Amino acid sequence: MSINQLIYISQATRKMSNSELLQIHTTAQENNAKIDVTGSLFYNGGWFLQVLEGPIETLSKLYIKIEKDPRHKNSRIIYNEPAKFRTFTRWTMNMTNLDDRQADKYDELVEVIEAAKTDRKIGSASPAVTLLKIFKN
Ligand SMILES: Cc1cc2nc3c(=O)[nH]c(=O)nc-3n(C[C@H](O)[C@H](O)[C@H](O)COP(=O)(O)O)c2cc1C
Repeated sequence: MSINQLIYISQATRKMSNSELLQIHTTAQENNAKIDVTGSLFYNGGWFLQVLEGPIETLSKLYIKIEKDPRHKNSRIIYNEPAKFRTFTRWTMNMTNLDDRQADKYDELVEVIEAAKTDRKIGSASPAVTLLKIFKN
């Protein structure tokens, strides 16, 4: 089945505690498993960046639901393209809280989020393409 990758950036409406992030993560994992969606969610300094992968109609519906969530605002899609392969095959939703600074690839990921906030490129690539490249194996 053909799949799309949708990436958006949004702002948390308030500072998220670890348990609030865990709650979002758990719900996302459970729901996404049922609808064949994989992806990854990054949180950094009050900003979310999320990659969603799955059938295009599923992603459209899911994004409409997520966008309405009062825990974040000003959501903006920065990438929505067909993909030959999923990048995050192992996770129905992975979660990286960059605020704890322990994350693998911390510097690269923070750079992606900073660039996405202001719609700036990283070299000649968009932040979204850079992000997908970081996780391509
Ligand atoms: C930043 C962010 C990312 C989210 N990601 C997902 C997701 O990938 N999948 C999902 O089902 N819900 C996600 N949610 C939660 C949804 O907005 C919504 O609360 C949830 O899907 C409702 O689940 P329920 O119908 O099982 O109660 C996310 C919420 C936020 C704030």
